[in-house]
Amino acid sequence: MSKVILITGASTGIGRTTAEYLTNLGHRVYGTSRKPFNEVVSFQTVVMDVTDDASVQSAIAHVLQREQQIDILINNAGLGIIGALEEVPEEMIQRVFDTNVWGLLRVCRAVLPAMRQRRSGLIINVGSIAGRMGLPFRGIYSASKASVEILTETLSIELKPFGIEACSVLPGDVRTNINANRLVAHSPSNSPYRAYVDDMNAKVKAEVSEAAEPMYIAETIEKIINAKSPNIYYVAGPFLQRASLWLKRFLPSRIFEYLLRENYGMK
Ligand SMILES: NC(=O)c1ccc[n+]([C@@H]2O[C@H](COP(=O)([O-])OP(=O)(O)OC[C@H]3O[C@@H](n4cnc5c(N)ncnc54)[C@H](OP(=O)(O)O)[C@@H]3O)[C@@H](O)[C@H]2O)c1
Repeated sequence: MSKVILITGASTGIGRTTAEYLTNLGHRVYGTSRKPFNEVVSFQTVVMDVTDDASVQSAIAHVLQREQQIDILINNAGLGIIGALEEVPEEMIQRVFDTNVWGLLRVCRAVLPAMRQRRSGLIINVGSIAGRMGLPFRGIYSASKASVEILTETLSIELKPFGIEACSVLPGDVRTNINANRLVAHSPSNSPYRAYVDDMNAKVKAEVSEAAEPMYIAETIEKIINAKSPNIYYVAGPFLQRASLWLKRFLPSRIFEYLLRENYGMK
């Protein structure tokens, strides 16, 4: 059955592929970007900055005015960041949390009254496998995505009485524009972290550019939409990244940390 779907951050990457894919399946999809789309796309477009209350309110009002309902909200807009926890500038930390965490909650809060009124809805939040572990020099990103998962768990319980489901999808590496859009807190030349941060930046860039295209995330989202009763989270990523979650669960914590340090050259 055709659903009204709102997906944030649909100008590129996972959001764009998912918006096109779900449109092809016959859904009425509204995809957002902070700037008006300057090309023709197959889905409806809406301008929305998830860090701006007025922008979120007006985008949601626009969709509701046209469709009277939003069946599915996909909170996908997000920002990556690399830097040493001791050095990342406060403004960068705030920007990441304002987008990845507070932005997601802001959009949920704007959409929920209409979903509660209809006693139906599905919220899919895009977290990350990186949110399941404190990765070196990616701590702000990991913390923001861990927050996404915790908020999702709470939403799932709080919204059950109103017939609304919430779940998260946790991608591993996906080849998107996230490399170009990621904030990088470069260390000053005399910083003891400089070589580590540069190495991590190069490593993450290489991993993302060699990763699979976003279609596998779009297909996971389709699976969630078609599920009678969705799980609380869905992990989707390369085998080793998925396996790392099992290792974290079953290995002694210092052994798991040792493996992470080895993997990232942090002797
Ligand atoms: N790629 C990966 O390896 C990977 C892995 C795990 C999780 N993820 C998560 O997947 C999601 C999508 O990432 P991606 O890889 O597709 O990245 P991307 O290609 O950089 O796309 C990010 C999207 O977020 C939007 N966005 C950024 N800031 C925004 C804001 N303040 N308000 C509204 N929209 C905003 C951008 O739209 P505009 O710039 O047009 O406004 C863009 O459409 C993110 O949450 C990311 O953390 C990605």
